[in-house]
Amino acid sequence: MLWIIDLTLEILSFISPQIYGQGFFQDQVPLKGQECCSQITSTTKSEVPDYFDTTLGQFAGPTQTGGAPFLAQTNVAPFPGISYIPNTPLETQVPIPGNVHNHNIFQRLANLSPYFPNPRGFGVQEYPIPCGSIVTWLNMVHRHGSRYPEISGRERTLGKKIMGAKGKFTASGALEFLNNWKFMLGAEILVPIGKQELFNSGTLHYYNYGHLFPNNGSKIIARTTTQRRMVESAEYFLAGFFGLGWTRNATLELVIEGDNFNNTMAGYKLCHHSNSQTAYKGILSVDDWAQVYLTDAYLRTKGMISGDLDWTFNDTYNAQALCAYETVALGFSHWCGLFTFEEWEGFEYSLDIGFSALVGFQSPVGRAIGIGYVEEVLARMQHHVITNAAAQINITLDNNTVTFPTNQSLNFDFSHDANIISILAAFGLTQFSKFLPTTHIVEREFVLGYLEPFAGRLDIEIIQAPAPVNSNRSDPKIYLEGPPTSYVHFILNQRTIPLGRSLEKCGKRDDGWCEFETFLQVQKKQIEIADFDFACFGEYESGKYGDVTDGRPAR
Ligand SMILES: *[C@@H]1O[C@H](CO)[C@@H](O)[C@H](O)[C@H]1NC(C)=O
Ligand SMILES: *[C@@H]1O[C@H](CO)[C@@H](O)[C@H](O)[C@H]1NC(C)=O
Ligand SMILES: *[C@@H]1O[C@H](CO)[C@@H](O)[C@H](O)[C@H]1NC(C)=O
Ligand SMILES: *[C@@H]1O[C@H](CO)[C@@H](O)[C@H](O)[C@H]1NC(C)=O
Ligand SMILES: *[C@@H]1O[C@H](CO)[C@@H](O)[C@H](O)[C@H]1NC(C)=O
Ligand SMILES: *[C@@H]1O[C@H](CO)[C@@H](O)[C@H](O)[C@H]1NC(C)=O
Ligand SMILES: *[C@@H]1O[C@H](CO)[C@@H](O)[C@H](O)[C@H]1NC(C)=O
Ligand SMILES: *[C@@H]1O[C@H](CO)[C@@H](O)[C@H](O)[C@H]1NC(C)=O
Repeated sequence: MLWIIDLTLEILSFISPQIYGQGFFQDQVPLKGQECCSQITSTTKSEVPDYFDTTLGQFAGPTQTGGAPFLAQTNVAPFPGISYIPNTPLETQVPIPGNVHNHNIFQRLANLSPYFPNPRGFGVQEYPIPCGSIVTWLNMVHRHGSRYPEISGRERTLGKKIMGAKGKFTASGALEFLNNWKFMLGAEILVPIGKQELFNSGTLHYYNYGHLFPNNGSKIIARTTTQRRMVESAEYFLAGFFGLGWTRNATLELVIEGDNFNNTMAGYKLCHHSNSQTAYKGILSVDDWAQVYLTDAYLRTKGMISGDLDWTFNDTYNAQALCAYETVALGFSHWCGLFTFEEWEGFEYSLDIGFSALVGFQSPVGRAIGIGYVEEVLARMQHHVITNAAAQINITLDNNTVTFPTNQSLNFDFSHDANIISILAAFGLTQFSKFLPTTHIVEREFVLGYLEPFAGRLDIEIIQAPAPVNSNRSDPKIYLEGPPTSYVHFILNQRTIPLGRSLEKCGKRDDGWCEFETFLQVQKKQIEIADFDFACFGEYESGKYGDVTDGRPAR
């Protein structure tokens, strides 16, 4: 069921060869403005190297536009008995059975939630920068915004199946909408709210870090991958940060996202086992959990259909994903109200399990996929290029300050959900490593919607202090005796990750920071732990879900 994952992994074609391919729905749905690479290919030969040319459209991946939304027509809100809340822009005022506490199910959609700041934090309070200290540096890695399903996504197969059975079945009760329903989703590229998410984030980052932009007229390099949604996400972000004239302030570098290309923003492309069955055994655990939480829903919805539509268990699961995708693409989805609040919690947990198993601490390649990026962050922190082939780093690009500047105080990169989860694992953030059983939902730190919703972002700051900052931040004595000291501060979706909680040497600090030199030391060790060559290319048995607990193969 892990088609929901961002990356178009080769394995998806292995799991579902019959659904792999493009343009399935072109004959069923009138698609306007059909996009293809040739439309954005420039006609004149560009003066700049390919990696600085954002108009080429090479390695853009599949790009398929969907039907145009018509919420003015299709919005069924307001619902009886609920006061009217205008759509902003999504219509999320959907009555969910069993939602006694009026929780927002759109924040329970794991990696398919539209962006929201983590509402509960990661275990520490937020503290202001003490007077006399300064934020001097930022490294951001940002997920692209809300998108259509992947080209190989199983909810697309479900869409096709339903459209193919039109007129042969009748749906009733909560499923009655299906009689008039149309599949209207495109594939892979950003939907409107996805563009807004990135623009908003660029704006937010300008408020937070605008001061760090060099005021001497020089431009910064920002990096993304060649995939269409990745390029556009970076562009919308930069427009939010600088305005529409952002090309005067930043140069966008596109690193090729393609099989066997080295790319730290798509680290699974050069890690054999992330694309093989070795890593994918864990995927079965999602099905185990689905059987637990979704069987009721399956039987219930099956009973609402008469005639010739063979409604399966998997269809039921994929229908939950359709709620998420239709909401961001069309503004509103009838599928959402079909499931109870408990079933939405189950859906969320299924993706928590899936990502833990595939790219997190329960995956033998969890750390390996993200380790190249960690090495890049460490190199930037220490102002040097990378000269030795390491992990999935492209040395051609990283051994050159033109393409890998080492003195920028603002570093903006763009990536995918799975890759960023692996980056968190590679940094050794074991607070997210808890095993998630497939029999029941447990309390956990690994709530995917808090880690990588659409447009999720990890901000890493360096803070320079005139003296050591007291780790007890309620103590009136802010600075201790000692020399000027720098700190590393991790912020994921606008909340601090307490580094000391996972990396013992960082110490128990109220503010979750880690002293700079200590951080560098600790991270050097993490590179060894990731065991890139063996994890990605070695020969080992992956075992069953739960055998791997530390994001690398057990040796
Ligand atoms: C349902 O999907 C899972 C993959 O998530 C697959 O293993 C299983 O075979 C599918 N079942 C059916 C009946 O298609
Ligand atoms: C301008 O800013 C860039 C980036 O911070 C820096 O590398 C460069 O040395 C600066 N040049 C001058 C003349 O200050
Ligand atoms: C971006 O560059 C333009 C042209 O050099 C300049 O006027 C503008 O101030 C820059 N933006 C920022 C945020 O520095
Ligand atoms: C490294 O990047 C360069 C520039 O985009 C590209 O030509 C080359 O194929 C890349 N190499 C690998 C192994 O990814
Ligand atoms: C890195 O760049 C330097 C200077 O251009 C060059 O001498 C060296 O051979 C390069 N190293 C690699 C591994 O490409
Ligand atoms: C790509 O990564 C592999 C594995 O680390 C390495 O052997 C190769 O030299 C890298 N290629 C480039 C161009 O960096
Ligand atoms: C980058 O900054 C470091 C010190 O922060 C300095 O030693 C180095 O020369 C600078 N490199 C470039 C290319 O500006
Ligand atoms: C932190 O400082 C406050 C105020 O001095 C004190 O009451 C508290 O016990 C200290 N906490 C710890 C864990 O030392």
